[in-house]
Amino acid sequence: MKILLTGGTGYIGSHTAVELIKLGHDVEIMDNLFNSKITVLDKIAEITGVKPKFYQVDLLDVNGMDKMFAEGGYDLVIHFAGLKAVGESVEKPLLYYKNNVGGTINLLECMKKHNVKKIIFSSSATVYGEQGVTEMTEDMQTGVGITNPYGETKFMIEEILKDVAKAEPDFEAVILRYFNPVGAHESGLLGEDPNDIPNNLMPIIMKVSLGEIPELSVYGDDYDTVDGTGMRDYIHVVDLARGHVAAMNKMNPGVSIYNLGTGRATSVLEMVAAFERASGEKLPYKIAPRRPGDLAKICANPTKAEKELGWKTELDIEDAMRDTIRYLKNVKKK
Ligand code: NAD
Ligand code: UD1
Repeated sequence: MKILLTGGTGYIGSHTAVELIKLGHDVEIMDNLFNSKITVLDKIAEITGVKPKFYQVDLLDVNGMDKMFAEGGYDLVIHFAGLKAVGESVEKPLLYYKNNVGGTINLLECMKKHNVKKIIFSSSATVYGEQGVTEMTEDMQTGVGITNPYGETKFMIEEILKDVAKAEPDFEAVILRYFNPVGAHESGLLGEDPNDIPNNLMPIIMKVSLGEIPELSVYGDDYDTVDGTGMRDYIHVVDLARGHVAAMNKMNPGVSIYNLGTGRATSVLEMVAAFERASGEKLPYKIAPRRPGDLAKICANPTKAEKELGWKTELDIEDAMRDTIRYLKNVKKK
């Protein structure tokens, strides 16, 4: 299949490119390189032996996209491109709505013009908002109690895709709601670039390990959880990438929605302990106040993806820590 990955030089897109190329698919990448580096293409080539064709194009550049689609002849678009820093989205809401929602509308218009009917979209568990339950299933209500513009953009794009599918019977969309992606490629060549604005746990652990941040602030140790710290469903990025392959192989007209998670939650202190075991180093941390908007515990129910896509995670936190540390060693060498 000929597949366009928007945001394909980014963290999740680059790992997905590797899995698709390994299966023999013809992968092309577009990215504006706002939050990723062109050198990622060489890393993909080093792992797979194939360097994907690359377009440095912005989702907001309609002419650039039109030209790319005219050349491309794509069967499927996997749409990763977007801004994702939750804190920044609160400061700059218009930037987030314009880039993520406006950019996706441009992409969908371009797909329509060039007769591309299939899209897989990177959504997030954030669309579930706060529901007072810890295990999420796809049929739960979404869009209520979302605490930031980033999360709102994911909800809005989901709604746009549902409306397009209603209007166009042969449109095929898969919405993948990611839980918390962590880890790196086992080669140590690809991973989450710790240069971006970190507010998520794993990039901060990486920055502490690199000595760029003195210590980790653990946001709250008085939640009703195993050890009082927040619990999340951390999914290895390679498992996540393989979830896209599984979804791609089972596309149908209309919109299908899947959680991509492990179904297991891990606490912040358990993550710290796992990092220390894998690295053999102590990770300095202090207990800090709760972060506003945080939930005690949230976890995927991944049953639907397992039943319908035949996909489930195969890697665990120990694998994620081992691969992250291998990637960190390469970052340190630079
Ligand atoms: P990332 O920042 O590493 O990758 C996103 C890529 O999109 C970047 O390379 C960036 O340069 C590009 N991009 C952004 N705006 C663009 C534009 N207007 N035009 C062209 N390219 C643009 O992020 P990621 O972690 O790989 O996330 C990929 C997708 O998954 C995003 O949509 C993100 O919101 C979603 N997601 C991520 C997480 C997570 O924790 N990493 C969780 C849930 C959902
Ligand atoms: C956050 C976002 C969510 C987004 C998701 C993935 C908020 C409120 N929510 O969710 O919208 O979809 O990232 O991008 O920002 N932690 C610490 N110290 C830190 C950082 C995190 O203790 O310095 C804790 C958090 O309290 C939480 C866990 O680590 O318990 C994971 O945090 P994080 O990686 O930010 O993910 P989410 O909270 O799931």
